[in-house]
Amino acid sequence: MPDRETAAISGPEPQVLVVDDEPELCRALSKLLTRNGYQVLTAGDGEEALRLLRQHEIHLVLTDLVMPKMGGLDLLRTGKVISPGTEFVIITGHGTIEVAVDAMKLGAYDFVEKPFTSALTLKTVRKAVEKQRLQAENLELRRRLEEVQDRHDIIGRSDVMRQVVETARQVAASTATVLLTGESGTGKEIFADAIHRWSDRRKQALVKVSCAALPETLLEAELFGYEPGAFTGAVGRRTGRFELADRGTLFLDEVGEMSPTTQIKLLRVIQEGTYERLGSSETRTVDVRLLAATNADLAARVQRGQFREDLFYRLNVINLELPPLRNRGEDVILLAHYFLQLYNQKNGKSLGGFTRQAVEALSRHGWPGNVRELENCIERCVVLSKGPFVDVDVLPPTVLAGKSRYEQVVIPVGTPLYQAELQLIEATLHATGGDKETAARILGINARTIYRKLK
Ligand SMILES: Nc1ncnc2c1ncn2[C@@H]1O[C@H](COP(=O)(O)OP(=O)(O)OP(=O)(O)O)[C@@H](O)[C@H]1O
Ligand SMILES: [Mg+2]
Repeated sequence: MPDRETAAISGPEPQVLVVDDEPELCRALSKLLTRNGYQVLTAGDGEEALRLLRQHEIHLVLTDLVMPKMGGLDLLRTGKVISPGTEFVIITGHGTIEVAVDAMKLGAYDFVEKPFTSALTLKTVRKAVEKQRLQAENLELRRRLEEVQDRHDIIGRSDVMRQVVETARQVAASTATVLLTGESGTGKEIFADAIHRWSDRRKQALVKVSCAALPETLLEAELFGYEPGAFTGAVGRRTGRFELADRGTLFLDEVGEMSPTTQIKLLRVIQEGTYERLGSSETRTVDVRLLAATNADLAARVQRGQFREDLFYRLNVINLELPPLRNRGEDVILLAHYFLQLYNQKNGKSLGGFTRQAVEALSRHGWPGNVRELENCIERCVVLSKGPFVDVDVLPPTVLAGKSRYEQVVIPVGTPLYQAELQLIEATLHATGGDKETAARILGINARTIYRKLK
């Protein structure tokens, strides 16, 4: 029997709202649908239907066209605004086919003509509900993905980091070359990823090359590709990273390590957008957005004649300087919690956080290896911890032995108190990377007092 039509529906029972001014018809449809696994609500006119639509999660509205108070078309128009995810199927009487076509234009899924058979009605309803489900599922998945991607995941609330993120977001939209600088482990690569993701090129490739990992010829072969026989060992033909990154982004990591000859070739691609594969005379063109990173002091290398000045300026159009972790104040603990979650998940653990002493030790440590060091440290803690919280016993000795990251202030006898106070506030602010909230907490005063005293 066609009554089994809905056997294909899985998951929680779909909610259908039947709207018709003929109570008989409402009852009949309600019975048919209930018997086939739907939850059914009924309404006698459009206004009542809208009220139900506001109050319940309705997957499908099955509505008559001509009704008192508010007709089917108006219900559809308003209903789609109130509940965009709800599908509509229109019941049309004799002579209202044209209106049904209008309804489809307004976003109705389908229509059934009176007099209708149970089989056809059920089939239409099932298809409409399936479409509704699929759409809702995809929407939910996309929402979750966006959430993850957007948090994916630059963690940081300190003023310094907020500024870096803001600048990165601003420059992402342009095609300007960005030079990411900062100590090892400060997040240069994670920012390169983010800039690409925030740019118009996000659908194209982000290609990465480490300039330190390869000797000169091999690096050039990587970057520009080669033809057979271009150098000893070049057997086949190879596509270069520039070509792979065409219309996308190329990330040159540790760019300071590039040899002088390669620097010249790179300069040419930046200036003219052209290059040749090794062993080929055919000039190729590319459209690539360049991001470069280095933890070396590139300006000093320029001074020493190890890095071309013209290339330096071409790469350094925008400089994104990532602050060392020791200058990010409260971010240390924020990141610690973030990594705790991450490694809890990876290790099937459920550590609830850190003990007071652990927080203190983590905050006191200077983190010369920056975020990477912190990440490794937390991974270790998660693996080794037995209790419900991470305690000092699982912290690496380097962290426990950590010297205070706060420098000292020497105040000679004879210094007026207000000046001594100011010196201490300034030094504390310096140590927290300008983070007034944290500085205030360390000093045991509130942030407003800091503002006032600095004036
Ligand atoms: N703000 C941040 N939020 C979350 N994770 C971060 C953050 N900064 C860095 N990380 C993580 O720390 C690790 C080191 O970051 P990354 O590789 O980007 O550093 P880097 O500056 O490129 O270091 P290196 O100079 O040694 O190559 C990575 O696992 C990265 O995901
Ligand atoms: Mg890196």
